[in-house]
Amino acid sequence: MQKTKFLRMFAPNFILEMKVVKTLAEFDSVRKTLGDKTIGFVPTMGALHEGHASLIRRAVSECGAVVVSDFVNPTQFNNKNDFNTYPRVLEEDSAFVKALGAAVLFAPSVEEMYPAGTDYDKKVFDLGGLDKYGEGPRRPGHFNGMAQVVTRLFDIVRPDMAYFGEKDYQQLAIIEYFVKKLGYGIKIVRCPIARGADGLALSSRNKLLTPAQREAAPNIYRSISKAVDMVGKMSVKEAVKAVTELIDSDSRLRTEYVEIVDASTLRPVADWNEAGHLRLTCAVYAGQVRLIDNIALK
Ligand code: PAJ
Repeated sequence: MQKTKFLRMFAPNFILEMKVVKTLAEFDSVRKTLGDKTIGFVPTMGALHEGHASLIRRAVSECGAVVVSDFVNPTQFNNKNDFNTYPRVLEEDSAFVKALGAAVLFAPSVEEMYPAGTDYDKKVFDLGGLDKYGEGPRRPGHFNGMAQVVTRLFDIVRPDMAYFGEKDYQQLAIIEYFVKKLGYGIKIVRCPIARGADGLALSSRNKLLTPAQREAAPNIYRSISKAVDMVGKMSVKEAVKAVTELIDSDSRLRTEYVEIVDASTLRPVADWNEAGHLRLTCAVYAGQVRLIDNIALK
């Protein structure tokens, strides 16, 4: 059977003609053509990999039409070098998203998202204190910048459902908080962390690793996985120390933090019984490249 005919019969949500849209005006006219389909949205910063693909595939299977955004948001980078070196590969991304069956790839410019004379890049958000721990104090302004771009994208795209990865666990918790607080009628879908065969959480920043750093990086997941068996067998403090030492025993890695937190409030706990669900979260440097990972402990 012809591929097109097969897709129309068995995967009616699969869009054969994907539109790449760069302006808001263009997006508005394409949005109108989607009619009353359930719109799924997958916001990204591009340099797409299988982690993003897992979100897009899920959105395509659950929604009538899927919009993927590809925008390296300057307001969420607290480190200029990180922003400048962030990989930008729009053509590759476009082919990747098209093959997954999305309807629209929205790739706006900075001027389009934050036009001169507007205050989209100055808005201050209530993040419910969820930014007080973990990434928050280490990346000042990061989550507020993330909230600026995500709310701006939500207002432009107007999706029914939006898909986010647990890879950025704190980001996901903060998005769930402000979506509720600001009364957005958008269903936030949590997607599990996609990992390589060696356990390394897939990330656009993995492209920046040297071969030696890439070889070392799976030791992050190997080390944090060990924490699952430490629950209740030693103190939380001892577990944090043991995991930190395991990571740092590879001289190519340098731990910035390891925290064991209440999975809802993200506050670090002192006792295993302090919360019903616990997560271990961490940030680790491999050279100049900063990698984050997390795992559910209970
Ligand atoms: P980015 O890092 O490109 O990630 C886009 C989405 O893909 C996020 O929801 C992220 O959690 C998810 N993702 C990335 N790697 C993943 C993996 N290995 N497994 C599962 N999901 C993964 O996160 C951002 O962009 C930005 O902050 C954004 C929300 C787009 C706002 O600018």
